[in-house]
Amino acid sequence: MQDVSKIAVLTSGGDSPGMNAAIRAVVRTALYHKLEVFGVYRGYQGMVEDDIMAMDSKSVANIIQRGGTILKTARSKDFLTPEGRKKAYENLKKRGINGLVVIGGDGSFRGARTFSAEFDIPCVGLPGTIDKDIGGTDLTIGFDTAVNTAVDAIDKIRDTMDAHDRVFVVEVMGRDAGYIALYSGIATGAENILIPETKTDMASVVNMLTEKEKRKKLVNLIVVAEGDDFGGGNYVGDYLKKHLPNADVRVCILGHIQRGGSPSCMDRLIASRMGYHAVECLLEKKYNVMVGVVNNRMHYTPLEEAVKAKQKLNSDWLKITRILAS
Ligand code: F6P
Repeated sequence: MQDVSKIAVLTSGGDSPGMNAAIRAVVRTALYHKLEVFGVYRGYQGMVEDDIMAMDSKSVANIIQRGGTILKTARSKDFLTPEGRKKAYENLKKRGINGLVVIGGDGSFRGARTFSAEFDIPCVGLPGTIDKDIGGTDLTIGFDTAVNTAVDAIDKIRDTMDAHDRVFVVEVMGRDAGYIALYSGIATGAENILIPETKTDMASVVNMLTEKEKRKKLVNLIVVAEGDDFGGGNYVGDYLKKHLPNADVRVCILGHIQRGGSPSCMDRLIASRMGYHAVECLLEKKYNVMVGVVNNRMHYTPLEEAVKAKQKLNSDWLKITRILAS
Protein backbone atom coordinates (compact mmCIF):
# COMPACT_ATOMS: atom_id res chain seq x y z
CA MET A 1 0.00 0.00 0.00
CA GLN A 2 1.36 3.46 -0.88
CA ASP A 3 2.29 5.95 1.85
CA VAL A 4 -0.57 8.03 3.14
CA SER A 5 -0.54 11.50 1.58
CA LYS A 6 -4.17 12.61 1.49
CA ILE A 7 -6.55 11.79 4.29
CA ALA A 8 -10.22 12.24 5.01
CA VAL A 9 -11.95 12.56 8.35
CA LEU A 10 -15.59 11.89 9.19
CA THR A 11 -17.88 11.64 12.21
CA SER A 12 -20.45 8.88 12.28
CA GLY A 13 -23.25 7.52 14.49
CA GLY A 14 -24.52 9.53 17.47
CA ASP A 15 -22.57 12.76 17.94
CA SER A 16 -20.66 13.35 21.15
CA PRO A 17 -19.17 16.47 22.74
CA GLY A 18 -15.51 16.67 21.78
CA MET A 19 -15.91 15.43 18.22
CA ASN A 20 -15.07 18.92 16.96
CA ALA A 21 -11.90 18.98 19.05
CA ALA A 22 -10.95 15.63 17.49
CA ILE A 23 -11.62 16.88 13.94
CA ARG A 24 -9.47 19.93 14.67
CA ALA A 25 -6.63 17.77 15.95
CA VAL A 26 -6.76 15.46 12.93
CA VAL A 27 -6.81 18.36 10.45
CA ARG A 28 -4.03 20.36 12.11
CA THR A 29 -1.76 17.34 12.68
CA ALA A 30 -2.21 16.30 9.06
CA LEU A 31 -1.38 19.80 7.84
CA TYR A 32 1.66 19.88 10.11
CA HIS A 33 2.87 16.75 8.30
CA LYS A 34 2.08 18.36 4.92
CA LEU A 35 -0.75 15.97 4.17
CA GLU A 36 -3.85 17.11 2.32
CA VAL A 37 -7.02 16.79 4.42
CA PHE A 38 -10.65 16.41 3.44
CA GLY A 39 -13.76 16.48 5.58
CA VAL A 40 -16.58 14.07 4.73
CA TYR A 41 -20.01 15.41 5.67
CA ARG A 42 -22.77 13.25 7.24
CA GLY A 43 -20.56 10.27 7.99
CA TYR A 44 -20.42 7.36 5.57
CA GLN A 45 -23.51 8.69 3.79
CA GLY A 46 -21.48 11.70 2.65
CA MET A 47 -18.79 9.36 1.39
CA VAL A 48 -21.37 7.51 -0.71
CA GLU A 49 -22.96 10.76 -1.96
CA ASP A 50 -19.65 12.55 -2.58
CA ASP A 51 -20.22 15.21 0.07
CA ILE A 52 -16.52 15.81 0.62
CA MET A 53 -14.67 19.09 1.07
CA ALA A 54 -11.00 20.06 1.31
CA MET A 55 -10.12 21.44 4.75
CA ASP A 56 -7.47 23.83 5.92
CA SER A 57 -6.37 25.17 9.26
CA LYS A 58 -9.08 27.86 9.17
CA SER A 59 -11.86 25.33 8.62
CA VAL A 60 -11.32 24.09 12.15
CA ALA A 61 -10.82 27.46 13.83
CA ASN A 62 -12.97 28.28 16.85
CA ILE A 63 -14.54 24.83 17.15
CA ILE A 64 -12.65 23.20 20.04
CA GLN A 65 -15.26 24.48 22.51
CA ARG A 66 -18.33 23.55 20.47
CA GLY A 67 -20.54 20.49 20.94
CA GLY A 68 -22.02 18.53 18.03
CA THR A 69 -19.89 18.07 14.93
CA ILE A 70 -19.15 20.59 12.19
CA LEU A 71 -18.99 17.66 9.74
CA LYS A 72 -22.46 16.51 10.79
CA THR A 73 -23.17 12.85 11.34
CA ALA A 74 -25.49 10.11 10.16
CA ARG A 75 -26.18 6.41 10.34
CA SER A 76 -25.84 5.35 6.69
CA LYS A 77 -27.93 2.51 5.27
CA ASP A 78 -26.27 2.77 1.84
CA PHE A 79 -22.83 2.13 3.29
CA LEU A 80 -24.07 -1.22 4.61
CA THR A 81 -24.34 -2.44 0.98
CA PRO A 82 -21.34 -3.46 -1.21
CA GLU A 83 -22.58 -1.06 -3.94
CA GLY A 84 -22.68 1.83 -1.47
CA ARG A 85 -19.17 1.10 -0.22
CA LYS A 86 -17.87 0.87 -3.80
CA LYS A 87 -19.31 4.31 -4.59
CA ALA A 88 -17.75 5.65 -1.40
CA TYR A 89 -14.39 4.19 -2.39
CA GLU A 90 -14.54 5.73 -5.86
CA ASN A 91 -15.34 9.14 -4.36
CA LEU A 92 -12.26 8.97 -2.16
CA LYS A 93 -10.09 7.49 -4.88
CA LYS A 94 -10.84 10.19 -7.47
CA ARG A 95 -9.38 12.74 -5.03
CA GLY A 96 -6.38 10.55 -4.29
CA ILE A 97 -7.45 10.07 -0.67
CA ASN A 98 -5.52 7.13 0.75
CA GLY A 99 -6.22 7.25 4.48
CA LEU A 100 -9.39 7.65 6.53
CA VAL A 101 -10.04 8.70 10.13
CA VAL A 102 -13.43 7.65 11.49
CA ILE A 103 -14.70 9.24 14.71
CA GLY A 104 -17.65 7.31 16.14
CA GLY A 105 -18.84 4.28 18.06
CA ASP A 106 -18.78 0.54 17.49
CA GLY A 107 -21.20 0.69 14.53
CA SER A 108 -18.89 3.18 12.82
CA PHE A 109 -15.92 0.90 13.44
CA ARG A 110 -17.76 -2.03 11.91
CA GLY A 111 -18.14 0.10 8.76
CA ALA A 112 -14.44 1.04 8.82
CA ARG A 113 -13.35 -2.56 9.33
CA THR A 114 -15.41 -3.81 6.36
CA PHE A 115 -14.34 -0.91 4.14
CA SER A 116 -10.62 -1.31 4.87
CA ALA A 117 -10.84 -5.07 4.26
CA GLU A 118 -12.48 -4.51 0.85
CA PHE A 119 -10.40 -1.60 -0.44
CA ASP A 120 -6.85 -0.29 -0.31
CA ILE A 121 -7.66 2.62 2.02
CA PRO A 122 -6.46 2.14 5.60
CA CYS A 123 -8.68 3.43 8.39
CA VAL A 124 -8.05 4.57 11.94
CA GLY A 125 -10.91 4.84 14.43
CA LEU A 126 -11.36 7.29 17.31
CA PRO A 127 -13.88 6.30 19.99
CA GLY A 128 -16.49 9.07 19.94
CA THR A 129 -19.52 8.12 22.01
CA ILE A 130 -21.12 9.33 25.20
CA ASP A 131 -21.91 5.75 26.22
CA LYS A 132 -18.31 4.59 26.97
CA ASP A 133 -19.31 1.21 25.60
CA ILE A 134 -16.17 0.39 23.60
CA GLY A 135 -13.38 -1.89 24.79
CA GLY A 136 -9.68 -1.11 24.29
CA THR A 137 -9.89 2.34 25.87
CA ASP A 138 -10.58 3.73 29.33
CA LEU A 139 -12.04 6.87 27.81
CA THR A 140 -14.34 7.75 24.96
CA ILE A 141 -14.75 11.24 23.54
CA GLY A 142 -17.93 12.74 25.00
CA PHE A 143 -18.50 10.53 28.03
CA ASP A 144 -17.07 12.96 30.56
CA THR A 145 -19.22 15.84 29.30
CA ALA A 146 -22.36 13.72 29.12
CA VAL A 147 -21.95 12.33 32.61
CA ASN A 148 -21.34 15.82 34.01
CA THR A 149 -24.46 17.09 32.23
CA ALA A 150 -26.40 14.24 33.86
CA VAL A 151 -24.94 15.04 37.28
CA ASP A 152 -25.84 18.70 36.93
CA ALA A 153 -29.42 17.84 35.95
CA ILE A 154 -29.85 15.26 38.72
CA ASP A 155 -28.52 17.70 41.35
CA LYS A 156 -31.31 20.07 40.30
CA ILE A 157 -33.88 17.30 40.43
CA ARG A 158 -32.72 16.41 43.95
CA ASP A 159 -33.59 19.91 45.17
CA THR A 160 -37.22 19.66 44.12
CA MET A 161 -37.38 15.96 45.06
CA ASP A 162 -36.21 16.82 48.56
CA ALA A 163 -38.61 19.74 48.87
CA HIS A 164 -41.59 17.44 48.18
CA ASP A 165 -40.33 14.20 49.79
CA ARG A 166 -40.75 12.43 46.48
CA VAL A 167 -39.34 9.34 44.87
CA PHE A 168 -37.65 10.27 41.62
CA VAL A 169 -36.72 7.99 38.75
CA VAL A 170 -34.23 9.64 36.40
CA GLU A 171 -33.49 7.94 33.10
CA VAL A 172 -30.12 8.65 31.53
CA MET A 173 -28.77 7.54 28.15
CA GLY A 174 -26.98 4.25 27.58
CA ARG A 175 -28.55 1.81 25.17
CA ASP A 176 -26.25 -1.10 25.97
CA ALA A 177 -23.99 0.30 28.63
CA GLY A 178 -24.65 1.54 32.15
CA TYR A 179 -21.65 3.81 32.58
CA ILE A 180 -23.53 7.11 32.47
CA ALA A 181 -26.08 5.74 34.96
CA LEU A 182 -23.43 4.28 37.23
CA TYR A 183 -21.15 7.32 37.36
CA SER A 184 -23.93 9.93 37.56
CA GLY A 185 -25.82 7.79 40.09
CA ILE A 186 -22.87 7.41 42.43
CA ALA A 187 -21.93 11.07 42.05
CA THR A 188 -25.43 12.23 43.00
CA GLY A 189 -25.96 9.76 45.85
CA ALA A 190 -28.65 7.67 44.15
CA GLU A 191 -30.27 4.95 46.26
CA ASN A 192 -30.57 2.62 43.29
CA ILE A 193 -28.80 2.45 39.96
CA LEU A 194 -30.33 0.20 37.32
CA ILE A 195 -28.13 -0.74 34.37
CA PRO A 196 -28.18 -3.17 31.43
CA GLU A 197 -25.15 -5.10 32.72
CA THR A 198 -26.99 -6.44 35.77
CA LYS A 199 -30.39 -8.07 36.15
CA THR A 200 -32.88 -5.59 37.56
CA ASP A 201 -34.92 -6.94 40.46
CA MET A 202 -37.76 -4.47 40.96
CA ALA A 203 -39.15 -6.40 43.93
CA SER A 204 -35.97 -5.71 45.87
CA VAL A 205 -36.01 -2.04 44.80
CA VAL A 206 -39.53 -1.81 46.25
CA ASN A 207 -38.41 -3.57 49.44
CA MET A 208 -35.54 -1.18 49.84
CA LEU A 209 -37.78 1.85 49.37
CA THR A 210 -40.33 0.43 51.83
CA GLU A 211 -37.60 -0.04 54.43
CA LYS A 212 -36.51 3.51 53.88
CA GLU A 213 -40.07 4.76 54.18
CA LYS A 214 -40.20 3.14 57.62
CA ARG A 215 -36.97 4.84 58.56
CA LYS A 216 -38.33 8.11 57.19
CA LYS A 217 -35.52 8.40 54.69
CA LEU A 218 -36.77 11.25 52.64
CA VAL A 219 -34.70 11.36 49.50
CA ASN A 220 -35.15 8.41 47.20
CA LEU A 221 -33.44 8.72 43.90
CA ILE A 222 -33.27 5.98 41.31
CA VAL A 223 -31.06 6.43 38.27
CA VAL A 224 -31.85 4.07 35.42
CA ALA A 225 -30.05 3.58 32.11
CA GLU A 226 -32.38 3.69 29.10
CA GLY A 227 -31.18 0.20 28.10
CA ASP A 228 -31.87 -1.40 31.50
CA ASP A 229 -33.54 -4.78 31.13
CA PHE A 230 -36.66 -3.63 33.01
CA GLY A 231 -37.40 -1.27 30.14
CA GLY A 232 -36.19 2.17 31.23
CA GLY A 233 -37.50 5.05 33.34
CA ASN A 234 -41.21 4.93 32.52
CA TYR A 235 -41.50 1.21 33.25
CA VAL A 236 -39.65 1.59 36.52
CA GLY A 237 -41.82 4.60 37.46
CA ASP A 238 -45.09 2.75 36.66
CA TYR A 239 -43.99 -0.26 38.69
CA LEU A 240 -43.17 1.90 41.70
CA LYS A 241 -46.45 3.81 41.49
CA LYS A 242 -48.29 0.50 41.53
CA HIS A 243 -46.30 -1.13 44.33
CA LEU A 244 -45.71 1.93 46.53
CA PRO A 245 -49.15 3.59 46.66
CA ASN A 246 -48.08 5.92 49.48
CA ALA A 247 -45.10 7.28 47.60
CA ASP A 248 -45.22 10.32 45.36
CA VAL A 249 -43.29 9.03 42.34
CA ARG A 250 -42.05 11.16 39.44
CA VAL A 251 -40.09 10.21 36.33
CA CYS A 252 -37.66 12.42 34.42
CA ILE A 253 -36.05 11.33 31.17
CA LEU A 254 -32.94 13.39 30.51
CA GLY A 255 -32.60 12.35 26.86
CA HIS A 256 -30.57 14.20 24.27
CA ILE A 257 -29.46 17.10 26.47
CA GLN A 258 -26.75 14.63 27.50
CA ARG A 259 -25.37 14.59 23.96
CA GLY A 260 -25.06 18.35 23.54
CA GLY A 261 -23.15 21.19 25.09
CA SER A 262 -19.62 22.44 25.24
CA PRO A 263 -17.15 19.59 25.80
CA SER A 264 -15.47 19.34 29.20
CA CYS A 265 -11.75 20.00 29.55
CA MET A 266 -11.17 16.23 29.78
CA ASP A 267 -13.03 15.57 26.52
CA ARG A 268 -11.13 18.34 24.71
CA LEU A 269 -7.87 16.88 25.96
CA ILE A 270 -8.52 13.28 24.97
CA ALA A 271 -10.01 14.34 21.64
CA SER A 272 -6.89 16.39 20.88
CA ARG A 273 -4.57 13.61 21.96
CA MET A 274 -6.44 10.89 20.08
CA GLY A 275 -6.82 13.05 16.96
CA TYR A 276 -3.08 13.72 16.91
CA HIS A 277 -2.30 10.01 17.31
CA ALA A 278 -4.77 8.99 14.61
CA VAL A 279 -2.69 10.83 12.03
CA GLU A 280 0.57 9.53 13.51
CA CYS A 281 -0.84 6.00 13.18
CA LEU A 282 -1.54 6.46 9.48
CA LEU A 283 1.96 7.85 8.93
CA GLU A 284 3.55 4.99 10.89
CA LYS A 285 1.48 2.45 8.96
CA LYS A 286 -0.39 1.35 12.08
CA TYR A 287 -3.39 0.67 9.91
CA ASN A 288 -6.93 -0.34 10.80
CA VAL A 289 -6.70 0.25 14.51
CA MET A 290 -8.76 2.13 17.05
CA VAL A 291 -6.81 4.70 19.03
CA GLY A 292 -7.53 4.43 22.75
CA VAL A 293 -6.11 5.47 26.09
CA VAL A 294 -5.46 2.81 28.74
CA ASN A 295 -3.88 3.76 32.06
CA ASN A 296 -3.14 7.16 30.57
CA ARG A 297 -1.07 5.68 27.73
CA MET A 298 -1.98 5.41 24.07
CA HIS A 299 -3.35 1.99 23.23
CA TYR A 300 -4.10 0.61 19.77
CA THR A 301 -6.71 -2.07 19.19
CA PRO A 302 -7.19 -3.67 15.75
CA LEU A 303 -10.59 -2.60 14.41
CA GLU A 304 -11.41 -6.27 14.06
CA GLU A 305 -11.20 -6.63 17.86
CA ALA A 306 -12.53 -3.18 18.70
CA VAL A 307 -15.90 -4.01 17.14
CA LYS A 308 -16.27 -7.01 19.43
CA ALA A 309 -14.76 -5.70 22.66
CA LYS A 310 -17.08 -4.20 25.27
CA GLN A 311 -15.94 -2.33 28.34
CA LYS A 312 -16.26 -4.49 31.40
CA LEU A 313 -17.95 -2.84 34.31
CA ASN A 314 -15.71 -2.79 37.36
CA SER A 315 -17.61 -4.77 40.03
CA ASP A 316 -16.12 -2.46 42.66
CA TRP A 317 -18.50 0.27 41.53
CA LEU A 318 -21.52 -1.96 42.06
CA LYS A 319 -20.41 -2.86 45.56
CA ILE A 320 -19.74 0.78 46.42
CA THR A 321 -23.20 1.72 45.13
CA ARG A 322 -24.89 -0.87 47.38
CA ILE A 323 -22.96 0.16 50.47
CA LEU A 324 -23.36 3.89 50.02
CA ALA A 325 -27.08 3.67 49.32
CA SER A 326 -27.90 2.24 52.75
O1 F6P B 1 -24.80 7.90 21.09
C1 F6P B 1 -25.29 6.88 21.87
C2 F6P B 1 -26.70 7.15 22.20
O2 F6P B 1 -26.77 8.40 22.81
C3 F6P B 1 -27.36 6.10 23.07
O3 F6P B 1 -27.10 6.23 24.43
C4 F6P B 1 -28.80 6.31 22.70
O4 F6P B 1 -29.55 5.15 22.89
C5 F6P B 1 -28.73 6.64 21.24
O5 F6P B 1 -27.48 7.22 21.02
C6 F6P B 1 -29.82 7.56 20.78
O6 F6P B 1 -29.71 7.69 19.41
P1 F6P B 1 -30.59 8.68 18.54
O7 F6P B 1 -30.02 10.04 18.71
O8 F6P B 1 -30.44 8.19 17.15
O9 F6P B 1 -31.98 8.61 19.08
